[in-house]
Amino acid sequence: MNREDFPMLEKGYIYFDNGATTFKPKKVIDKIVDYYSEYTANAHRGDYDLSHKVDTEYENTREVVRKFINARDRDEIIFTSGTTESMNMIVFSFFKYYLHKDDEVLITKTEHASNVLPWYELEKEIGIVVKFIPLNKNHEVELEALKSVVTEKTKVVSIASITNVIGDIRPILEISKFVHNNDIMLVVDGAQGVPHIKTDVIRDNIDFLAFSAHKMLGPTGVGVLYGKKKYLEMMHPFKYGGGMNNIFSSTKEIEYKEVPLKLEAGTENIAGVLGLKEAILYLENIGMDKIHEYELELKKYLVEKLKKIDNITVYNENSEAGIVTFNINKIFAEDASKYLNHYKICVRAGNHCSKMVKDEIEVKNTCRISLYLYNTKKEIDKLIDVLENSKDIYDIIL
Ligand code: ALA
Repeated sequence: MNREDFPMLEKGYIYFDNGATTFKPKKVIDKIVDYYSEYTANAHRGDYDLSHKVDTEYENTREVVRKFINARDRDEIIFTSGTTESMNMIVFSFFKYYLHKDDEVLITKTEHASNVLPWYELEKEIGIVVKFIPLNKNHEVELEALKSVVTEKTKVVSIASITNVIGDIRPILEISKFVHNNDIMLVVDGAQGVPHIKTDVIRDNIDFLAFSAHKMLGPTGVGVLYGKKKYLEMMHPFKYGGGMNNIFSSTKEIEYKEVPLKLEAGTENIAGVLGLKEAILYLENIGMDKIHEYELELKKYLVEKLKKIDNITVYNENSEAGIVTFNINKIFAEDASKYLNHYKICVRAGNHCSKMVKDEIEVKNTCRISLYLYNTKKEIDKLIDVLENSKDIYDIIL
């Protein structure tokens, strides 16, 4: 799909590490270069034309993001440095003040570090209790299993919409209906979901959502925190400084701006935000449903071929996102990745920042292929060819 739009695809790599970050289309790169070479100025600070242009572009991006995830109001979109910062803001700027000792937060063992560690820290700080939703044999969340761990103390369910190692698509709508009927809030880590499937915060009644631009064709260092406006208004700023206040004085009188600016202190990653807009327009032009359908077709093709190779174990055959986690039997995952690198095939190896997945799949390190819209069956054929001939692996990597 649209391979000619991606300069990195001209370098001869087979890039299967899109869960870590994606290549960028020329339109995104041009947008960033344009900002730096044609209309550099800060946002929300100047009274001259250049600055007004930046304000308009920046605030227009907020509207593009709003539409992309179907939020009600553009004020519900906060620009951050990425999913990690968004998740930390959700936990430490909102839930730290909203939750009380012994309140329970439900996560799973297949969550990424940024949806685990902030909660663990909050547990230490204020005495909440982090509990795990049991997963089924395919390592998926089912509503009945979730219900089995809910108590009258459960206040939050915080889960990824798609997980980064198993690649299962969570039944967010079904979970949302249940949790909201039980006065439980829903936090969604959208780092792996927003780039690959249609996300609709109104349909799914999501309270908070976090995602990153760089995993969806956009630049690094920029992300989004979505929150229902009533919750964002209750949030304590994570950062204090310029751009977020109306008044401060030597008598210590302080007045902060309204959201979203209240939560965006300091000069934001303006180039990044503008790049994110182009990335979203690019994805929308293709269509999120089409992207998901294509990735699923590629995943099925890849799994069928991998299953025919004797010494390969696939750990997530049934999941429906473009993520395939596997090992070459008796070969350390990092060695397998180095072997593939010899053929300019990029995959991720290790625990993928999801260190509790090993409790589920009973193996610590794996190789992960994460597909995106520009990958092809031809690239998969090349990978299969290299894996079928992996007997010489140590001759190649040593
Ligand atoms: N969270 C990213 C990944 O899954 C870095 O690779």
